[in-house]
Amino acid sequence: MSNYHIKHLEEYFKVYRKSIREPENFWEEIAEEHFVWRKHWDKVLSWDFKKPEIKWFEGAKLNITENCIDRHLFTKGDKTAILFEPNDPNEASEHISYRQLYERVNKFSNVLKDNGVGKGDRVCIYLPMIPELAISVLACARIGAVHSVVFAGFSSTALSTRINDSECKMVITSDGSYRGSKTIDLKGIVDEALESTKCVETVLVAKRINSDIAIKENRDKWLQPLLDKASPECSPEIIDAEDPLFILYTSGSTGKPKGMVHSSGGYMVYTAYTFKNVFNYKHDDIYWCTADIGWITGHSYIVYGPLANGATTVMFEGVPSYPDTGRFWDIIEKHKVTQFYTAPTAIRALAKAELDYVNKHDLSSLKVLGTVGEPINEDAWHWYDDNVGKNNSPIVDTWWQTETGGIMLSPIPYVTPTIPTYATLPMPGVQPCLMDDNGKELKGRQVNGKLCIKFPWPSIARTIWGDHERYKNTYFSTFENMYFTGDGALRDAVGYYRITGRTDDVIIVSGHNMGTAPIEDIINEHQAVVESAIVGFPHDVKGSALYGYITLKESAKGRKLENIHKEINQIITEHIGPIAKLDKIQFTNGLPKTRSGKIMRRILRKIANNETDNLGDTSTLLNPEVVQEIIDGKV
Ligand code: WTA
Repeated sequence: MSNYHIKHLEEYFKVYRKSIREPENFWEEIAEEHFVWRKHWDKVLSWDFKKPEIKWFEGAKLNITENCIDRHLFTKGDKTAILFEPNDPNEASEHISYRQLYERVNKFSNVLKDNGVGKGDRVCIYLPMIPELAISVLACARIGAVHSVVFAGFSSTALSTRINDSECKMVITSDGSYRGSKTIDLKGIVDEALESTKCVETVLVAKRINSDIAIKENRDKWLQPLLDKASPECSPEIIDAEDPLFILYTSGSTGKPKGMVHSSGGYMVYTAYTFKNVFNYKHDDIYWCTADIGWITGHSYIVYGPLANGATTVMFEGVPSYPDTGRFWDIIEKHKVTQFYTAPTAIRALAKAELDYVNKHDLSSLKVLGTVGEPINEDAWHWYDDNVGKNNSPIVDTWWQTETGGIMLSPIPYVTPTIPTYATLPMPGVQPCLMDDNGKELKGRQVNGKLCIKFPWPSIARTIWGDHERYKNTYFSTFENMYFTGDGALRDAVGYYRITGRTDDVIIVSGHNMGTAPIEDIINEHQAVVESAIVGFPHDVKGSALYGYITLKESAKGRKLENIHKEINQIITEHIGPIAKLDKIQFTNGLPKTRSGKIMRRILRKIANNETDNLGDTSTLLNPEVVQEIIDGKV
């Protein structure tokens, strides 16, 4: 018998030990007992981190939607699978049962097929958080097409880059989206993006805001009439466990976004198993993760993990501040939410509002609180614990990445004692280790180093779409035979892990990863700019925010800096999206450089963080005089 649901600490240690001693047996038992496969695997695991090549359940055949939908029909057909809460609290919420989900996914699958999408084809999904988003994801999976969901807050340039990179044949979007009191013209953004793509044959358009949009003949089609005509039966395409399920882009510190490719079999097993344990999910629970499906958290813990467990998963279309800052608490009360999973940045923003917004709601249904995406500071942790959980719901601080597919370090609620800001212990099957800068493993307790994983787990991304070399260089070349996460961490006296933050030029702003180089490249395209450097600085709501040092051309010096400031944020918004805007801009006469011409970001980081007392030796710089000038001009 496998230990699918861990219930006490001793059991955790026992299960963990087994998962390390006999990883193949451990995952094989879970895979056999808790999932439907159309053909058994020939081999549980083969791997080589040097190539790198990782295969789980090789030879097995399955369809993940049979596991997420079909198999629940007999026992849970009428149970709510997706509970949709619209942006406007006065609009009715929608309860989509497993049976209804089955029919809607099948109809959508047939529409995809009728429009020439088949196994292995890539489909870009650019939708707001409406049921069609989850349904289209599942429909792609059902026919073996590879979905590439692009967060609907990204700009048209970011969208076209992603469409082109994976050569998507189809885009699924809507006439627009609601976001608080605003509406956004998504279809207009798609139209603009498609001006610089050649691969897209069809655009399916869901109706959400009833806006008057342009429909391009032979390319754009309204979705609903096609769904109305489609058959509610569509047998799933049976695919290999190692066939790609989806591509999801994540920013790196340099270059274009990386299309992380996830497999079907291993991803399914790992997300389902971690969902069950990290959220202590029980049959009648109402689980709510506030992420957007455009991010990995939404893929793994709104769609696949919960549905594979036959859970009820809430999808919220709106924002935490509309119609007022009590909206999250209102939804928890309204739907009697039992597990609530959100980001530290949301907690910090809501903690700033009057406590009355929380206190006037009955939150007694809550059993587990979760956080993800960035380190949670102690104040936010305690605020969450005291005011939302009433010191009665364990907080699971879950550490993981787009690349890991599922939660890697996290307390198990009611099992692992929690400590604020600690992601505590590894999930079964996860073998973390800390490395020093010389490539040596730091053994024992009370050490601080770079966080790596020594052994494959089932949901590790298999490659970067179209660029396996980059996959190897980014994750497997820093330390031999290890997956390098890019994060720093410490291990304390009892063996608990605490994430200390990124060790590269990725800055996490409101839980979103921002590579600095791609933003600098865009700024440098502005005609007034010579060069720029971006660093992070602490921000009380966003966690970190972006501080840009920008040197202007002589010719621009007469211009109003205020206008250049605005223009720079404008081009960032156009090329990436508003999430990458700079909070502070300091115009400089030059940037500190080494004699070989490399910008000394370490110094700039310290200045932005007000740590000017220990800048170190600046005399060896090419231009030491700019340092004091920059300190004096700090904004
Ligand atoms: C950071 C999100 C501290 C980390 C699932 C990681 C965290 C990056 C935590 C991945 C946490 C995520 N504590 N830091 N609990 N969770 N991070 O790909 O730096 O959007 O490498 O995946 O977020 O972000 P991504």
